[in-house]
Amino acid sequence: MIVVLVGPPGSGKSTQAELLAARCGIPLVEMGEILRDLSTQETPEGREIKRYIDRGLLVPEQVLNHLIAERLQRGNVRRGLILDGFPRSVSQALTFDRMLRDVRQKLDAVVLLEVPENVAAERLSGRRTCSRCGASYHTQFAPPTRPEICDRCGGMLQLRPDDHPDVVRARQRVFARDTAPLIALYEERGILHRVDASRGVEDVFRTLSAQIRCD
Ligand code: AP5
Repeated sequence: MIVVLVGPPGSGKSTQAELLAARCGIPLVEMGEILRDLSTQETPEGREIKRYIDRGLLVPEQVLNHLIAERLQRGNVRRGLILDGFPRSVSQALTFDRMLRDVRQKLDAVVLLEVPENVAAERLSGRRTCSRCGASYHTQFAPPTRPEICDRCGGMLQLRPDDHPDVVRARQRVFARDTAPLIALYEERGILHRVDASRGVEDVFRTLSAQIRCD
């Protein structure tokens, strides 16, 4: 089962993708996380990726393609894969189709997490991310036990650099321009599942897992 999660910044893709991957026992690919890790490397590629992320823009496709192709070749993908944040444009979707054909797989479902912009903005302004292990919290909705300290590794929590309001606005514009056209593409194929993502984490997951069954 290959499932893609799509939604505007702050819609809860990463939160729901982790729950779904755990429930189904299949691997998860979080494109934002992979790119953020690469952006910390002092290499020409790392610096290029960082320039795009810091401005809230899509990283060029040639950087992403080999990352996805490599994951599709891994043996454990035969049982399925959950993708958070890829594809994010029609061009990426068409490339992804070709890659899936090459490994005799197909995309089974696309989950669109729908959330009003003001709700998403509140989630992003309160998100805190561990500077050491990348774990994600929210000051109000998922607070750490000790303020500003990661429960998992004791690292310091910080606002993700691209969660500053001006970069969030840029990410929202990129979603509307580049990612929203994907919705019609997948709707036409009959594999789009719309989920109201404005409610609490458990409620959203209940709705999602009623539509995406892994048993
Ligand atoms: P990425 O990290 O994927 O950013 P995004 O798509 O903007 O999404 P977010 O991570 O901000 O939000 P989310 O929807 O995952 O929500 P989350 O669960 O974290 O990508 C970052 C950058 O990488 C891009 O801007 C781009 O530059 C680059 N990139 C990535 N993919 C690319 C691609 N395919 N092509 C090119 N470039 C690419 O939740 C957010 C907060 O809300 C958390 O604090 C969480 O605790 C809280 N929360 C979650 N759900 C709920 C809920 N139901 N109720 C209350 N709080 C909630």
